Amino acid sequence: MVKDFISLADYTGAEIIAFLNLADELKRLQKTGRPHKLLEGKTLALIFEKPSLRTRLTFQLGMFQLGGFSLLMDMRLGERESVPDVARNLERWVDGIMARTYRHEHVVQLAQCASIPVINALTDKLHPCQILADVQTLREHKGADLSSLKVAFVGDGNNVFHSWANFASRVPLNLTLVCPEGYEGDPEITRRAAKEAKGAFVITHDPADGLKDADAVYTDVWASMGQEEETALRETIFAPYQVNEKLMGLAKPDALFMHCLPAHRGHEVSDDVIDGPNSVCFDQAENRLHAQKAVLASLLRGDRVLNMFSELKHTK
Ligand code: CP
Ligand code: NVA
Repeated sequence: MVKDFISLADYTGAEIIAFLNLADELKRLQKTGRPHKLLEGKTLALIFEKPSLRTRLTFQLGMFQLGGFSLLMDMRLGERESVPDVARNLERWVDGIMARTYRHEHVVQLAQCASIPVINALTDKLHPCQILADVQTLREHKGADLSSLKVAFVGDGNNVFHSWANFASRVPLNLTLVCPEGYEGDPEITRRAAKEAKGAFVITHDPADGLKDADAVYTDVWASMGQEEETALRETIFAPYQVNEKLMGLAKPDALFMHCLPAHRGHEVSDDVIDGPNSVCFDQAENRLHAQKAVLASLLRGDRVLNMFSELKHTK
């Protein structure tokens, strides 16, 4: 297994499924009050350049529940000292680094310069932790075999979509991006996804075409963190892509509604959809905790995920 958790594309499909199985097991242990202190005495530094509710709380809580400790740092990388120097300091004190940054290259550089694991907790390019929790949620609602499922991602081809594209290039699942022209995502990522996809990988501008037969309709904010000055322009461009009852009506009747949160209600999603019976966005938020605990336990212990999973099985 690779040292860091930067991109789902760095892992094999089997390794990603192993993370998900471990996440299910850790969720079961947590829910039934069974101790699982796999990281006793281990420490994690959390670097946040951007705001966060879910990621910040679940990484801190996850380390606590695993018997470890986390140290929170609100800082901007590359300002006071170089990124390699930050990496060379942190590796002397802690067992792992979690970083949420603007520039993706900064997380990559941290990982290259530190001997300890680095976890990507969102960059302008990727958000892999989110997709692990999303897929854990999808499996809970639609079953473990994702190969016949269709996920329609409606809106901006952004960091969250990029990580979905990377997932689809490793694990069988059908993924469609439904977006306005000019918002199809990073061509390097979508080209690779189109080439390596294990199921159908489609990009369309037509909601009726893109949402047809969808088992899950996913959306995210129209302007991500760092794009605030484009908010007004994007509101006009993305308006036809608001996920409301009419748009949900184009998908399967039992299609799930998914959102990574935070949601801008009345913009990318209407209140009736996000608060409706098919919305699983708070399940996704809950699973951030369990999915990230699987990543933390696997990377900070230095064991292979599958070994960890079988070790836990013996505690039943
Ligand atoms: N979904 C997500 O990453 O939420 P936060 O920005 O609140 O961490
Ligand atoms: N695309 C969003 C995700 C927030 C969790 C952003 O980067 O702001």
